[in-house]
Amino acid sequence: MNFHVLTLFPDMIRDGLMASITGRAIKAGIISLEVVNIRDYTENKHKKVDDYPYGGGAGMLMQAQPVYDAWEAVNRRIGTEKKTRVVFLSPQGNTFNQHMAKEFAKEEDLIFLCGHYEGIDERVLEEIVTDQVSIGDYVLTGGELPAMVMIDAVSRMVPGVLSNQESGVSESFSEHLLEYPQYSRPEVWKEKKVPAILLSGDHKKVEEWRLEQSLERTKRLRPDLYEKWAAENQEYFVRKAKKEERLRRKLEKRLNCCTTHQGV
Ligand code: ADE
Repeated sequence: MNFHVLTLFPDMIRDGLMASITGRAIKAGIISLEVVNIRDYTENKHKKVDDYPYGGGAGMLMQAQPVYDAWEAVNRRIGTEKKTRVVFLSPQGNTFNQHMAKEFAKEEDLIFLCGHYEGIDERVLEEIVTDQVSIGDYVLTGGELPAMVMIDAVSRMVPGVLSNQESGVSESFSEHLLEYPQYSRPEVWKEKKVPAILLSGDHKKVEEWRLEQSLERTKRLRPDLYEKWAAENQEYFVRKAKKEERLRRKLEKRLNCCTTHQGV
């Protein structure tokens, strides 16, 4: 997976992504990062990339020419027949989510266009942008942080980026669910004990407990996500009901057996 970022602040992107897990994945060649300074493509002799908006109004706009030429140069380097998706980070876009991260992770190349100042000349956006994406209903000073957020989330979905693959590509059961609580050493801290089940060594029971915890948390904190999960995992409730019924019968049998014995 190759990320290409068009920006006026290349250091911001490099500094943000060359650290931690994304940095390790880039160094290992699992993903690649090309950061393109839009300013390098301006035809203006003073290296200017912005100008006043026609019709007046506050602030400056990024001009079409340097953005378009930077994009063309990246496209030439990618060199595929297929049109590479261009993601423009904007609060007007569709809100980014995990499903989108998975979809974007299927692309071989992705171009991110980061706006700054009051925005970018509409004509170049019409010409090159395929996807407008927001990271939430608030306005940031530029598209660099949103681009980094997206690249981080998309990278996690690329095989090999996370050392433990299961924690990236969620199992069907954990999709839409919040994380279960986790504990590390010591077993007792400030008189708080680690739940006994986690020390039992019974992996099946631990998995069941974790799923139950995730479900309880999601239901309480994000009922919208819980509804989604419940609708997509009806079989879980059927299985759970069957298990409870089996347990109830077993108990009933035991109880009957004991009362019969007592009666004799
Ligand atoms: N640029 C400025 N604010 C943004 C946001 N919330 N999401 C994506 N891009 C942005």
